[in-house]
Order: sequence, then structure tokens, then C-alpha cells
Amino acid sequence: MCIIMVDNIYKSTGKIINGINTFIDINSLSGENKKFSELYNKIAPFYNISQKIFYKIKFGGENNFRNDFLKYIIVNDNNLVLETSVGTADNFYYMNKKAKYYGVDISIKMLKMAKKHSEKWNVNSELVCCEAENLPLNDNVFDVVYSCGGFNSYNDKKKALLEMIRVAKTGSKIFIIDETGKTIKNIYKNVPGKELYNIEKANMPLNLIPKEMENIKGEIICKGYMYIISFNKV
Ligand SMILES: C[S@@+](CC[C@H](N)C(=O)[O-])C[C@H]1O[C@@H](n2cnc3c(N)ncnc32)[C@H](O)[C@@H]1O
Repeated sequence: MCIIMVDNIYKSTGKIINGINTFIDINSLSGENKKFSELYNKIAPFYNISQKIFYKIKFGGENNFRNDFLKYIIVNDNNLVLETSVGTADNFYYMNKKAKYYGVDISIKMLKMAKKHSEKWNVNSELVCCEAENLPLNDNVFDVVYSCGGFNSYNDKKKALLEMIRVAKTGSKIFIIDETGKTIKNIYKNVPGKELYNIEKANMPLNLIPKEMENIKGEIICKGYMYIISFNKV
């Protein structure tokens, strides 16, 4: 007998466009999500090279930078993992290749790069174009859920956080990683789209985590450039 495992992940049906499961078009976006989708669509071709230069100068390499938060994100074989604001999926390179990854983003151009990377690095992944605030995914399906590098700019952080909690399995670990106010102040003064980055938005949003969650922790990492919040879904 042959048993075929099918992930029962989606709660609605998107359009597959260039291999990316697409639930939005850019004209349906508003506010920060529209602005950031446009910005990332513009900078996608140069994003990786400029980031790599930055990581080399500030941290001695991308692996040093990413290890500072990925060391907390334990992924076991066969886990289902969700990253919201996945960008070009660079975290997947460093993570357990025996798990399955879902990556959500509002920038179709960043997701195209993510798809290329996943194929090149042999990552079992599905890439989904949608807002973190409105995940087309079923309740209680993921073993690990994290957001890396987009949370500060989400239109509605609380809604996105509640979505991350909704799709995570009970007991699973959830992480929010993003830049601190210090980073926004010092680094983003000279980059394209600088007017979009707002220092007030970069305070570690511990206040958003529902009180009933367990093991709520917030830490400053990456030499003060990033924060990480972690907790378990109850
Ligand atoms: C700095 S990149 C992060 C890339 C990646 N996670 C990493 O660690 O390298 C931020 C990403 O957040 C995405 N983003 C911003 N707001 C979003 C939203 N509301 N929903 C989904 N993605 C969003 C942007 O399109 C962009 O690709």
C-alpha cells in the first residue's frame, strides 16, 4: 500500500503565478503594505548583494548575523515551518533541510528570488504572496512560526501577530525578529525609501503578545541591531 502525505495547509485557493501561490495583487494593498511592496519590488534585484556587504562589514559575514537569531529557532525533521515576510528566503539556507518551509511576502519580486534560492539550495518550500495580516492558511498547522525583518512595517502588527498564533500548533514556538530603533536611526538614513522607516515603529513590541501565551521573552541581539521576541502558543 502506498500512503501519500498531503499537507492540509491552505484555507482558500490562490492563483499559481510563476510557481508562487498568489492571493493578492499590488493594487489591493494599502498603507505601509502598499508602500513596502512597491519598495521591495524595486530593490529586489540589488537586495541580496547590498545586504551581504552590510553583514560582512558589521558582523564579519551573513552567517554570524543570522546565527544570532536562528540559534533560537529549533526546527526538527519533518516540521512544518512558516516565515512571514520571508523576502528572498535567505534564512532557509541555514535551516534544517529535512523540514518543509512556507514563506509569505507581499513583494512578488522578492518571492521570485526566494523561489530561485529554494531551488538552488534544495529547500522544500512553498512561497505565498499575501499579507502577513491575512494568511490564507489553516488554524493549528505549523510547528514553528516566525517573522524576520518585516514586522516593524506591517500595516497592522497586532492582526499579523494574531494570525501567526492562529496558524501555529498549540505548544509551538513563535518568534518575532526585527530591527531596533538604533538600527533604524543609524542605518536607514541613507537608503532608498528611508522616509518609510520610522523609529517609533521599531520598539520591541512585547506589549502586543497576549498575556496568556507562555515563556514570553524579549532580547536585544546582533550587537544591538535586532530584537527577538519568543513565546509558546497556549
Ligand atoms: C527586510 S525584508 C526581510 C527578508 C527576510 N525575512 C530576511 O530575513 O532576510 C522585509 C520583507 O518584508 C516584506 N513585508 C513587509 N510588510 C509585509 C506584510 N504586511 N506582509 C508580508 N510581507 C511583508 C517585504 O516585502 C520584504 O520582502
